[in-house]
Amino acid sequence: GSASPQTNPGGTCPFSGAQMPDADLPMMADSFDPFDGPYQLDPAEALRWSRDQLPVFYAPKLGYWVVSRYDDIKAVFRDNILFSPKNVLEKITPATPDAMEILKSYDYAMNRTMVNEDEPAHMERRRALMDHFIPANLEQHQDMIRRLTREKIDAFIDSGRVDLVDAMLYEVPLLVALHFLGVPEDEIATLRTFSVAHSVNTWGKPSDEKQIAVAHDVGRFWQYAGQVIEKMRQQPDGTGWMHHTIRMNQEIPEVVTDSYVHSMMMAIIVAAHETTSLASTNMFKTLLTNRQAWDDICADPSLIPNAVEECLRYAGSIVAWRRQTTAPTTLNGIDLPEGAKLLIVQASGNQDDRHFEDAATFDIYRDNAVDHLTFGYGAHQCMGKNIGRMEMRIFLEEMTRRLPHLRLAEQEFTYLPNTSFRGPDHLWVEWNPAQNPERITPALREADRDFPVGAPARRDIARKVRVRDLHHETDGIIRLTLEDPQNRPLPRWSAGAHIEICVGDYDRKYSLCGTPGDDAFQIAILREDAGRGGSCYIHDTVQAGQTLKMRGPHNLFRMDETAPHYTLIAGGIGITPILAMADRLKHLGKPYALHYAGRALRSMALLDRLRADHGAALTLHPSDQGQRMDLPALVATVPDGGQIYACGPADLLTTLETLTADHPAGTFHFEHFSAGSSGLDPDKELPFEVELADSGLLVQVPRDGTMLDAILAAGIDVGSDCREGLCGSCEVTVLEGDIDHRDVVLTRAERQENRRVMSCCSRAKNGGRLKLA
Ligand code: HEM
Ligand code: FES
Repeated sequence: GSASPQTNPGGTCPFSGAQMPDADLPMMADSFDPFDGPYQLDPAEALRWSRDQLPVFYAPKLGYWVVSRYDDIKAVFRDNILFSPKNVLEKITPATPDAMEILKSYDYAMNRTMVNEDEPAHMERRRALMDHFIPANLEQHQDMIRRLTREKIDAFIDSGRVDLVDAMLYEVPLLVALHFLGVPEDEIATLRTFSVAHSVNTWGKPSDEKQIAVAHDVGRFWQYAGQVIEKMRQQPDGTGWMHHTIRMNQEIPEVVTDSYVHSMMMAIIVAAHETTSLASTNMFKTLLTNRQAWDDICADPSLIPNAVEECLRYAGSIVAWRRQTTAPTTLNGIDLPEGAKLLIVQASGNQDDRHFEDAATFDIYRDNAVDHLTFGYGAHQCMGKNIGRMEMRIFLEEMTRRLPHLRLAEQEFTYLPNTSFRGPDHLWVEWNPAQNPERITPALREADRDFPVGAPARRDIARKVRVRDLHHETDGIIRLTLEDPQNRPLPRWSAGAHIEICVGDYDRKYSLCGTPGDDAFQIAILREDAGRGGSCYIHDTVQAGQTLKMRGPHNLFRMDETAPHYTLIAGGIGITPILAMADRLKHLGKPYALHYAGRALRSMALLDRLRADHGAALTLHPSDQGQRMDLPALVATVPDGGQIYACGPADLLTTLETLTADHPAGTFHFEHFSAGSSGLDPDKELPFEVELADSGLLVQVPRDGTMLDAILAAGIDVGSDCREGLCGSCEVTVLEGDIDHRDVVLTRAERQENRRVMSCCSRAKNGGRLKLA
């Protein structure tokens, strides 16, 4: 493997921070080489320039189009018809003729499995083989994973120094995979050579000589997989997913084909094993490098599920995946021909500031970490993700409990050079065994804590902040300054960002404004007597020095910083994000005008700060002094290319929307607090009723809500992932009623049958009633 220094990525990278002149872009694209240099060192950092300036580009050295932004990668994953996965397991470095001859001599015939299969074959197969992966059926594996993990830890806990990869992280995921699959456990050592060969063969750049050796290993792996299948066919009562697969192969051979079974036997070992081993290794490296996070987890293990997601986001094991266009198309304005091969770099998307606020910072309190793309997305999203999660959680829980004093040893990390699988080959850790807590408290060895299978729930993730200062801005407005209770830095945020304060049963969103140079958060809260009560609760109960729970920051109101001029418009309490934007524009040296309207000067918050820092750009419009804002006149003064950002009451925003209707797209921006909304247009939808046969419950689905949410709210568990009709997780059985199908999962025949429905997106026809099993 290639050596890489043990530095925190980002600090010394030649690409970080510096704004690149546009003239360098073609050069950057031309020289992009995923097998070497910056990409191998840190793929997300190596593509920062691309995320910022050229998010889709052709890399001639690879023959692929590289896609680096979160939204674009997700869009590609979302459409598996236009962006086919057929090239996912293609050799990224073509085989030499000699290597091909060798593979032929082993009758190597690796075919489509699942991850690289097109529709409609893929979805039929995925659904036929899904059952073993649903959370309710995974619970039973926790004990096995814990037992295997404990055996490994027992073996090294008194040694004081170990390579975690060799001692645990390599083998446990392999054993777990074999258990899950129902494959005999022998020949682990052989399998180890095989999987490495498969990874190098598929995603690596072996030299011509190396190709020969790899071809032999891949050929042997292929034959070995065939033998394992034959052995398993002799055990008709065998348990595990591959046994189920073999039975399905007998029942529905046209869906679960012979070729699939053989190919899958080889592919699944890599899919289930390497992915999890590498992700776990990355996790320990990341957490021990970010010691504060490790210590927080030792003190509070309930942080583990989200810490695992943040590790998968920040340092995932699958850093890039592939797709191929089936028709000419455009992606983020770039024309792609039919047959274009795409390298979609999840590691880069996972560090895209457009989706993750302060993305380059590792933060286990990040409440949208679970949005990471490391498991892919949509129709092909990793079926085994909840097994991987379960393993990583148990590894972390056992290690933080039994070895809280673990530290990273001095070492140089090496990686297998390839485009997609990433994690250090070895991870040396050290500790003083005399300090092992279980020497004093032996019961610690047995203690454990299992987490519910599946993604962490957002409501369980929160960050604590302390009220440093509470300031009465006006009669009805208080301004809170919030800091970290341990005086650590708070996450950085960009102008337009908001946080959510969790008070009582309420989560309320407040835009951030702060003093430049001070990393404390500031929010201004208007007492809304007519609201749901959250603001009154804060006004009445919160005091300086108190600790609050919050989520975020998030930014749904991001500024495009390239405009030549900005008009900022605030109505009432809407001033907070607008002030942050003004601060930013001043910092950038951009021309801007700031208009702030309110009922009366004494009801308008933040005036001192505005006058001090933005006096030259500021116009106040207190309506009690007859200085109402003249919106048509304001809009008329916006120069060509200028942009308007507004925050305030709904009528202000609707008026501006109408006034700017004829302006070029992108002129007018306002905040969409869309979190939690379904994206349904209540004007176009009808409410309907769902009867749940088992429980006898009758639930109402509102115009702007989904059946899935209504069922969940009634306390009935239904799986879900994509929530947009792509992945097939939320299927429920329909006993009566006509369905308006809106998914892309069900076949035409199944739609006509009217017996199944994807509850996340489909509805009852004409507002009728559905009866579900
Ligand atoms: C697919 C990553 C663990 C089984 C995938 C894909 C990725 C991925 C990126 C392709 C997704 C897409 O195209 O949208 C990971 C990571 C893991 C992990 C990072 C661990 C941390 C597992 C495990 C298993 C598994 C433990 C099985 C026991 C599968 C299967 C698919 C898949 C069957 C194909 C799904 C389909 O095409 O419909 N995984 N995986 N994975 N993974 Fe995983
Ligand atoms: Fe993915 Fe409904 S189809 S959650």
